[in-house]
Parts: sequence; C-alpha cells; structure tokens
Amino acid sequence: MDKNFYITTPIYYPSAKPHMGHAYSSIIADFFARLKKIDGYKVHFLTGTDEHGLKIQRSAEKQKIEPLEFCNQISLTFRNLSKILNLSNTDFIRTTENRHKVSVQYLWNELIKNDEIYLSKYSGWYSVSDEAYYNDDEIVDHDGKKISKLSKSIVEWIEEESYFFRLSKWQKPLLDYYLSHPNFISPLSRKKEVISFVESGLKDLSISRKSFSWGIPVPNSKDHIIYVWLDALTNYISALNYPDVNDSLFKNFWPASLHLIGKDIIRFHAVYWPAFLMAAKINLPLKIYGHGWILSDNEKMSKSKGNILDPIEIIKEYGVDPLRYYLIKEVSFGNDGNISQERLENCINSDLANNFGNLCQRVTTFAISNCNSRVPENISLSTEDLTILNKFKNDLNNIRSKIDEQDINYYINYIVNALFQANKYFNDQEPWKKKNDLIRLNSIVYTTLEIVRKISFMLYPIIPNSALKALKIFNLNEKDIIFSTIENYNYLKKGSNINKIDILFKRVEKNND
Ligand code: ME8
Ligand code: MG
Repeated sequence: MDKNFYITTPIYYPSAKPHMGHAYSSIIADFFARLKKIDGYKVHFLTGTDEHGLKIQRSAEKQKIEPLEFCNQISLTFRNLSKILNLSNTDFIRTTENRHKVSVQYLWNELIKNDEIYLSKYSGWYSVSDEAYYNDDEIVDHDGKKISKLSKSIVEWIEEESYFFRLSKWQKPLLDYYLSHPNFISPLSRKKEVISFVESGLKDLSISRKSFSWGIPVPNSKDHIIYVWLDALTNYISALNYPDVNDSLFKNFWPASLHLIGKDIIRFHAVYWPAFLMAAKINLPLKIYGHGWILSDNEKMSKSKGNILDPIEIIKEYGVDPLRYYLIKEVSFGNDGNISQERLENCINSDLANNFGNLCQRVTTFAISNCNSRVPENISLSTEDLTILNKFKNDLNNIRSKIDEQDINYYINYIVNALFQANKYFNDQEPWKKKNDLIRLNSIVYTTLEIVRKISFMLYPIIPNSALKALKIFNLNEKDIIFSTIENYNYLKKGSNINKIDILFKRVEKNND
C-alpha cells in the first residue's frame, strides 16, 4: 500500500488579507494531513499564494505599490495565518518564486512540443475577479452591468491576440476519465456539475495575455504572459520540483492524493488542470474535492459584500482550537454552512468545555485521589468495560475508509458520540461509590482513562494543541500519537503516572445584555 500522502489547498490570491473562507480550506487540509501522518503516512502538505494576473496587478495599482512589493506584504499575512492556524504544512509556495516560474515555462514548452498550443485571437468575456473566461450563455445583465451567472462577478469584454490551448480535443478523454475514475471529483454534486459542463462542449482555452505584464512570460514570445490559471495550477507540481521527475519529492508525492478546494474553482481543477496534465503526459491527481462555502448571514463572504469574518480576530478572542473544532463540526463538510459567533460559543461550552474538558478533569482528579496518581494496575475488566473499549477497535477500519471518502462529518460525529458515551459510562458506573470494591473502582478508572487517551488521539487532527495538553495526563507527546493504537485497550502502562492538567477550555460567559 502506498504510504505517501500529498494534500494541497488552493493557493490564495494575495489581493486582500485572508478571511474565514481561506482559513476554512486550510484547516480542513490540515485535518487530513495530521490524520494521515498519525496513521503512518509520509505527508506532504502544500499551501501558498497565487500572485500573478490582472487582479493582483490592479490591486497593487490601487495602493500605488509595485506588484511584487504588494504581494510580498500580503503573502506574508497568509504565511502568518498558516502559523496562527497551527497548520502542519511542509511547504508554502509563492508563484513569484523562481522554482515555480521555471516549472511553468517548462510545462508550456512541453505543451508546445506536443502541439497543444496555437496562436490566434481571443474575443469574449473575462472576469478579472475570477480570472476566468466565460461563454455568452454564462453572462447576464445586472443593474446595467454584465456579470457571470455562476460567480456574480463583473465581466469585461476583451479582444486580443492570444495563445490557445486545444482544450476542445480533450473533451472526450476527460469524460472517459471521469467515467473510469468515479472518485476523481467529489462530492457527487460537484462531479455532476463538471460532467455537464464538459458534456455541453469545450472550446479551446485562451492561455496567454498581452494587454498587461504582471505574469510569467511566454517562452520565446516576450509580449505575452501566461494565463494566471495555467501558471497557478502548476504550483502543485512546481513545488515538487517538476520537471525534475526523478527528484524524490516528485517521485514520492506525485500524483497528489487530494487537491482540496472550494466549489468556486472546481472547473479549473477538474477540467483545465487534468487537460493540461494529459496534454503534457503527466499523471493526474487522484482526487479533487470541492467543499462548500462558509456563509455569513446566508451569503458567501466576500470583500465586496463587506461581510467578512476575520479569523485572526476570532482566534484572538476564543483561541485557535475552538475555531478549528467549530468549523469542522458545525459546517457539514461538502455543503455550504452559515457560521455565527453564538454557535461557536455553544460549541466551546458544550462540546469542548463540558464534554471533553470536563471528562479529562473528572477522571484525572478522581485517579489522583483514589488511585495514587497512577494508571490502576489491579483491574478486572467487565463485559461493559470491554464493550466500550473495543468499540474503537471494531470501528477503526470503517473510520479510515470514511476518511478516505472525506467524510469528516462521520469522523466528528463519531467523536462526539464517543464523548457522550464516555461521560455517561463514568456517571453510570459511579466509581465514587465503589470505594469498598477497589478492583471495580480501578477498572472503571482504567477504562475511562483509556477512552480519554483514544479520544485525544482522535481529536489531535482537529484540535492539536488541546489534544496534546490532554495527553499530558499520561506524559504522552506528539510522537506517541499513533492512530492504529486506538484499537488497543491495553495501551496505557499500568502503574504509570497520572498528571493533573490545566483547564483545557475556558467556558465563554455569555453577555446577557
Ligand atoms: O481562487 N467559503 O484564490 P482565492 C469557503 N488563486 N471557502 C472559501 C471562501 C468561502 N467563503 N472564500 C474562499 C483563488 N474560500 C485562486 C486559486 S489554486 C491553483 C488557485 C477558499 O483567494 C476556497 O478554498 O479566491 C476557495 O476555493 C479559495 O479560498 C479561493 O481563494
Ligand atoms: Mg476567489
């Protein structure tokens, strides 16, 4: 079995500082990266910024700064955000880096060599905000302006000499590929949307621009720059040192296991990117998952709507793990989800503080005073104890396959349910009434501690810092977290120390005014 896992986020436009939508994609990607890592995979996790094109050039002009200087500043805010979010990314790519430019120009030349590119003239609609070309039937009038039906962004008419990629010739191979690789595009709704778009007919794609200069030059054609999406998509392989296909990064990690993106950019990833790759005779990524949108007041967050929730502000107020937990639990993965501060506070109080935090505190406090601050040695597990302990063992492979289907909802619900069961078990068993039956008392404490250990392992990909704090109970560190051990009910070393830990989550006091 292939034990390498390569996951990517979109590379974000540094046209404005990052918002909750960017944080969301990155957190989800980090969840998969950490989970695969503790499950024994070698993980490469890439994120970064997409810095060329008219959108960035215009944003820089507005601020009267040179584009590169502008990108340097905002790209840094994205890099800082990845630290604030506690991402485990192994690389951060900027498309203005030389390693990337070399790679994009090489890919261009490959496409030329394979006769996939020709020079002609483009006339049609273009959205600078999406950096996308749209067909006539994708445009509507709105308040006297032309906008894209799909993204609602304003389009402008452009006419200029341009290089074209022979996308039309890939229509049939793409459709065949979707058919023979049913998991290539996920979730199902996105796959259907892509297939119907491709079935409706693909026109050749304009892949160079002449009317502005902020981009990677077309080799041997110095008044053209490469279309920003051809440039951007290549990041997934330039970061692996393509074209050096013998480089260990490329060898180990291409094809990517998962390109995680938002549904807004599914067409670029599921149509254009595989077509470019096929045309260049490069293997296709294994999977493209287009998640839904984070909505604020039922609308997609966007700078122009002024409804942006700032992840950094939220983290300052509540901490990073509560935000990570909240986004993973409360946004049904794959669908759009509204977020609200009130629901975030509920999550902190009920799930994190009351269910997880409280269970950790109760059982450690009890073990410290009644079991000599040690994992009990003298135990005799009852059928009930074994049932709750073995549940994890029985479910492990199912959990793994759910993860490979990106069923995050299943994973988080599994944890919420396990926490509920564990609290109920501890309450129902009433170990405080068993002081005359020490073996029973010990067995209850042992069982509950084991469950806390297992749940902390499972929570690690979601709330890494808090899970690590909880594992201090057992003196366990990051390197000790091995996912497969959740099936072992004999994991905790009998007689080893139990430590008191700090409160994991502070309850949020609600304002009642
Ligand atoms: O499209 N809800 O960059 P971008 C959920 N540079 N996710 C959201 C979101 C929201 N409201 N808003 C943004 C680009 N995202 C290109 C990508 S990749 C080769 C090039 C997330 O800055 C989501 O992942 O517009 C979406 O696809 C991405 O940010 C778009 O970021
Ligand atoms: Mg966008």
